[in-house]
Amino acid sequence: MAKIAIVYHSGYGHTKKVADLVAEGAKSSGAEVSVYDAETAIVKIDELDNADAIIFGSPTYMGGVSAKFKEFCDATSKKWFTQAWKNKIAAGFTNSGSLSGDKQGTLQYLVTFAMQHGMVWVGQGEPPASSTEHGGKPEQINRMGSQTGLMTQSDNAAPEITPSKGDIETAKLFGKRVAETTVKWSGK
Ligand SMILES: Cc1cc2nc3c(=O)[nH]c(=O)nc-3n(C[C@H](O)[C@H](O)[C@H](O)COP(=O)(O)O)c2cc1C
Repeated sequence: MAKIAIVYHSGYGHTKKVADLVAEGAKSSGAEVSVYDAETAIVKIDELDNADAIIFGSPTYMGGVSAKFKEFCDATSKKWFTQAWKNKIAAGFTNSGSLSGDKQGTLQYLVTFAMQHGMVWVGQGEPPASSTEHGGKPEQINRMGSQTGLMTQSDNAAPEITPSKGDIETAKLFGKRVAETTVKWSGK
């Protein structure tokens, strides 16, 4: 069975909700999924060595990853020294308040972070909703047309009522895609 770890930070619960949706999607493919908040992941960092894939999730704060998530990234330098995560599958997601909100800045950092570790990046995989005539509606899959990773938007409303229906489905599909790719890559 393919093992997938999800490491996220969430200051106010929005990114945690997305992390749980990504986990749900990955589990639907039969993967074994472990979800870690960034602080726990630092303490239990050796557990991540056992994962076939690690999915990274951060809210977009000031156009990039949150400080708490970056703290996790910096703590992984001990894994970098031995290239312990080389050739694991990697993927990333971010949630933010604005429709754009410079989420791409966050995803770009997550790609760079994964490349530092020699990981193999898997993108979002769903076509952009904006390629259809009336694209970009809240109930649509990949309404923000992100391909590098998963983007969701919370409108700064309570996590109980956000993100949108389309974003929720997109998050599950993203988790499923990463899990399926991990099975193909790892042969498990
Ligand atoms: C310090 C800080 C910086 C933020 N910067 C951005 C930003 O650059 N772009 C944006 O769209 N939203 C920004 N927001 C809004 C958050 O992305 C949004 O509230 C998100 O849902 C928070 O996720 P969380 O509940 O998982 O922490 C910021 C919020 C905070 C607290």
